[in-house]
Amino acid sequence: MTETQNTPQPEHPGRRAAVVTGASSGIGRATALRLAAEGWTVFAVARRAARLRALADEAAGAAGQIVALPADVTSAKEMSWVRDQVAQNGGADTVLCIAGGALGTDPVSEGGLDDWEWMFRVNVQGTLNTVQAFLPMLRETGRGTVLVLTSTAALASYEGGGGYNAAKMAEHGLVGAMRLEEAEHNVRVVEVLPGMVHTEEFTRNRLRGDQAAADNVYAGVEKPLTAEDVADVCTYAVSVPHHVNLDQVVMRPVAQAAQFKLIRT
Ligand SMILES: NC(=O)c1ccc[n+]([C@@H]2O[C@H](COP(=O)([O-])OP(=O)(O)OC[C@H]3O[C@@H](n4cnc5c(N)ncnc54)[C@H](OP(=O)(O)O)[C@@H]3O)[C@@H](O)[C@H]2O)c1
Repeated sequence: MTETQNTPQPEHPGRRAAVVTGASSGIGRATALRLAAEGWTVFAVARRAARLRALADEAAGAAGQIVALPADVTSAKEMSWVRDQVAQNGGADTVLCIAGGALGTDPVSEGGLDDWEWMFRVNVQGTLNTVQAFLPMLRETGRGTVLVLTSTAALASYEGGGGYNAAKMAEHGLVGAMRLEEAEHNVRVVEVLPGMVHTEEFTRNRLRGDQAAADNVYAGVEKPLTAEDVADVCTYAVSVPHHVNLDQVVMRPVAQAAQFKLIRT
């Protein structure tokens, strides 16, 4: 897809506003830019303030705008501050929880507790803090949307994935319960579950900064998903008429037909 191609037109014309966590890099960054190109006001959240400010500048010529709100999703206090800033700037009816990540590839027998705790804090507690801060605002709009980016790691375990599998499966569990609970408030809950996405930082962070090892993960894989591929799907999912809930969207590169089947040339 390119630019505004194939994105549904708004059902309720007027201001569209979304909070995007994890907006300083990768999928979150691409999604923030894509939404801004479509005319959305985007409240961009991540810890690295300078990157968020550069992102806001990059969107300066877009149909919409990006507002930088640096914060740590693992802090309920900081996410309350984000919510207050959003409320003072016109509010939002859509929240995309994209912040997350993986740390380490150790087998369960050797995995470090610090790594596991980090993954649970950012993927599970971070999403919990984000939705707890914003659900009252979304309910009040009468047509809220929450999109959570989990992973195919939430569907199937793989060797060396124990901590990330466990964290993404926990996040996936949270999303399922929230969909049932929020339906009566007309808040739809979307889960996007990508397979391999070649982003700049995800695997390098997982492998503790080893760029060569990170490059090896993608070596010979024809066309892994890109951040823009996932951004297109997220933008589509939050733009379809509100009664349509794309409950779970699993997306993989053709070269990765399953977690255990990765074709390298
Ligand atoms: N890449 C893949 O293959 C893949 C596949 C499936 C699912 N996913 C999921 O997709 C999401 C994005 O992945 P990506 O590939 O785009 O990774 P990425 O480039 O590493 O992006 C992660 C984002 O999360 C933010 N973040 C991390 N910890 C945070 C915290 N405590 N508070 C606020 N923001 C925080 C980072 O910003 P700061 O460091 O500036 O805070 C960054 O913007 C993650 O949830 C990941 O698990 C990735």
